Amino acid sequence: MCGIVGYIGERDIKKFLLEGLKELEYRGYDSAGIAILQEGKLLIFKAVGKLENLIQKAKDLKTEGFGVGIGHTRWATHGKPTELNAHPQMGEFSYVVHNGIIENFKEIKSFLKEKQFLSQTDTEVIVHLFEKNLEELGNPKEAFKRTVKTLKGAYAILLITKADPNSIYFAKKGSPLIVGRDKDEVFFSSSDSPLIGYAKEVYYLEDGEWGVASKGKIEIFEGSKRVEREFKPLTINKELAQKGGYRFFMEKEIYEQSDVIIDTMMGRVKEDRIELEELDKEFLEGVENIKICACGTSYNAGLTGAYLIEKLAKIPANAEIASEFRYKEPVLLNNTLFIVISQSGETADTLEALKMAKSEGLKTLAICNVDNSSIVRLADRTILTRAGIEKGVASTKAFTTQVMVLWMLALYLAQENLKKELKENELKAMTKTPLALKVSTSLHERIKRLSKRYLHGHGFFFIGRDIFYPLALEGALKLKEISYLHAEGYPAGEMKHGPIALADPELFTIALMPKNLLYEKIKSNVEELSARDSTICAISPVEFELADDFIKVNNATHYMLEYYEMAVVMQLLAMEIAIRLGNDVDMPRNLAKSVTVE
Ligand code: F6R
Repeated sequence: MCGIVGYIGERDIKKFLLEGLKELEYRGYDSAGIAILQEGKLLIFKAVGKLENLIQKAKDLKTEGFGVGIGHTRWATHGKPTELNAHPQMGEFSYVVHNGIIENFKEIKSFLKEKQFLSQTDTEVIVHLFEKNLEELGNPKEAFKRTVKTLKGAYAILLITKADPNSIYFAKKGSPLIVGRDKDEVFFSSSDSPLIGYAKEVYYLEDGEWGVASKGKIEIFEGSKRVEREFKPLTINKELAQKGGYRFFMEKEIYEQSDVIIDTMMGRVKEDRIELEELDKEFLEGVENIKICACGTSYNAGLTGAYLIEKLAKIPANAEIASEFRYKEPVLLNNTLFIVISQSGETADTLEALKMAKSEGLKTLAICNVDNSSIVRLADRTILTRAGIEKGVASTKAFTTQVMVLWMLALYLAQENLKKELKENELKAMTKTPLALKVSTSLHERIKRLSKRYLHGHGFFFIGRDIFYPLALEGALKLKEISYLHAEGYPAGEMKHGPIALADPELFTIALMPKNLLYEKIKSNVEELSARDSTICAISPVEFELADDFIKVNNATHYMLEYYEMAVVMQLLAMEIAIRLGNDVDMPRNLAKSVTVE
């Protein structure tokens, strides 16, 4: 998501910070800023939009001689992309940059009643809390230690202060932070690429570590204990660094899902309930049914959401493809909550559908990954998916985070009426999702090996039932997008009404067979295909002897955990097939990341 850089030393600080932020541009951002402390003077520059705007603002700034500096590119999560919300966030004499989400920022804010807050960000509490602690403790290191101890959530933090003008305070939990050095110089970054060519050795901070760095000195602590860490040479090249060492952005994004889903849930999935600050009783008053509208992968997430809303909240819900919805002269009722889903927030058909709903006076809600996008600006309310920028044209982490928002929404709508045990069961399953999305080396290796058997044939059928039907649609979409092989997603029970005529050994069936949802039903559908000699690859926690190939997923206790594991399996399968076929996985032919035309 956001990017962080920091520097202590004699070289041109502004140049290092701005070049570093440029290296992090690929991660996506909507505003940026730098702060520099030099000869006791604090200088700050912030700008909304492209880095070029920040470069222009800071163009007359000369930074020669020793100093310390921090920089940040922000991808909005709390508060709109405005200059006030851009980082560094400031206190009276200290500045901070932060990646992640401070879950207890509201509590901290109310504790800091006497402080004046300028932004809507969760980050601002860090700098005010630090200054308050400093007033009480009189020692910046102790004040920073206490500050970090109070924070809940995820963070990578760099803080500079006039109270200790030659140092940078840092802390990490949940969000990446690297500290590098070369002789007396100290460097910080949230990923390798800004450090390449500068830092000779680096240390990847671990969760719970914090510290303070000054010229030629880096002190790292774990709680109150000072720890010595081994720095390793930085050998990685820039291209590899941007892809985090993966072959493709798509692969990186598949692996990232397990982490970004935590951001999606952060502050929303509580111990005993779902909290969505974007919604309230008044907004939902009078809503009697829900219509979801989207395109492509976002539609597949939307269809999953419609099933979940009916299942959990018992509110009638359906999903429609935006390009169809627009022209079918739909009947719109004003007791409908109209939800649009979009990764980019710019998809023309989805945007037009949203305009239609608005003009009919419906309440509208956007589920989107890009704050301030056209769809977000237009919708009454927005729940951001917080997936971070998605570079691969084939959507992966946008999809799994959209589904998570919809699942949370379904439970949010249900929670007043749901039995305690059922609610607890859902919440417990949600917290296990990061694990379900984790890619194990053995699973990836197995899929890589299997993929060579699926490079030909006259077509693929991905089949599933209930929410595994939209997941089957998504599996088929992934495969056709990047492998250029023909694939269809189908409701398993519908195969016998026509498509089964295609069954022969050259027809590949990818069967989604969860243990926790309609197992016996899907099993008999797959048996019908097997009897007609279709080649079957079953994805299931339960051994299935009629399958030609079998990909075993974990024995989970909730169907959504099976859903997420199977999503990853299908993403990897599509990717490995496409790689074997020699295709450009990140930029498949004929496709664009954002479809702004009808
Ligand atoms: C498929 C994919 C597309 C998009 C669709 C909608 O991998 O990425 O099908 O899902 O073009 O885009 P958004 O979500 O940006 O509205």
